[in-house]
Amino acid sequence: MTELIDIIKKVQLTHSLNKQELVSILKDDSSDATLFAAANEVRKKYVGDEVHLRGLIEFSNICKCNCFYCGLRKDNASVQRYRMSVDEIISLAGKAKDYGYKTVVLQSGEDAFFDKEKMCKVISSIKALNLALTLSIGEKSYEEYKAYKDAGADRYLLRIETTDKKLYQKLHPSMSFENRINCLQNLKSLGYEVGTGCLVGLPEQSDESLADDILFFKKLGADMIGLGPFIPCPDTPLQNTQGGTFTKALKVMALTRLILPDINIPATTAMETLQQNGRILALQSGANVVMPDVTDEDCKQKYTIYPGKAGLNNTAQDYKNSIVKSIEAIGRTISQGYGFHNKNS
Ligand code: 5AD
Ligand code: SF4
Repeated sequence: MTELIDIIKKVQLTHSLNKQELVSILKDDSSDATLFAAANEVRKKYVGDEVHLRGLIEFSNICKCNCFYCGLRKDNASVQRYRMSVDEIISLAGKAKDYGYKTVVLQSGEDAFFDKEKMCKVISSIKALNLALTLSIGEKSYEEYKAYKDAGADRYLLRIETTDKKLYQKLHPSMSFENRINCLQNLKSLGYEVGTGCLVGLPEQSDESLADDILFFKKLGADMIGLGPFIPCPDTPLQNTQGGTFTKALKVMALTRLILPDINIPATTAMETLQQNGRILALQSGANVVMPDVTDEDCKQKYTIYPGKAGLNNTAQDYKNSIVKSIEAIGRTISQGYGFHNKNS
């Protein structure tokens, strides 16, 4: 216990831990309160009390991939598939701007319908609204990433999901770990702000492997890290597995804040789904970003990555209002800026 507290004090000052130290904290829950408080202090010192809101647009749930954990996987025939038109996406981004968002995040399955030409049209039209733009649309070629960047995209989210290569290969049929890494490196070299992250609580995932994930985030020089508990989803190969816990996901997130003190870290919807008030607990343990869903009701209901997604029964405007209220109730403020990564460390 005192040994763990010493490790936490050390990382709070040095922002560096080795694998063994990370594992010792992940394995033992006796000092969690100290860990969360340290991450909260580091968050305050490096990125302040402002919370950045990003409006999330889930524009297509069609996916050619078969990730074992995800409800949108190609082989899941029970999903009602939808795809917005280019004009619908642009008009939803306009609505997000009217709601007060400064950033929109475009997320979809890996849907080949949205080729380079269509995506560039979407990107340049949204950039004309003076919004910051984040893409979360999966693995693409260098040329496509370059075209999106040239069209004005600012940021890209592509989670590594797990750095355990064997586990990665098992969970992602016909995908390759090397290509995932390659995509992340291409995004970096093209000058995107790059977000990655992992799932916490996958079957066979060890604390050692989670420690490797955190060290990977540092090595990549990530600008954003999004992570959450794995939530088993019906009609997927992992439907009967145990899933991750809220506490373990919160610990990985807090350690990430301590190691990468100035990056952007969202309090993810998966955290709120697994635990009531989970988003606020995350904001008090290192997170500084929230990504409320602005997708229209009928589409949002069909974007079933996992069951029971928080916020499904609210309109976009009500949901945002309630999130803003809860953020202000803990003494934090809503950022009026674009929320780019300010490198302070
Ligand atoms: N539980 C939690 N998160 C999931 N994701 C996919 N399926 C699940 C699940 N069952 C996450 C992946 C992906 C992100 C968009 O959603 O990490 O990168
Ligand atoms: Fe498709 Fe993404 Fe789900 Fe994998 S995690 S099946 S790429 S939507």
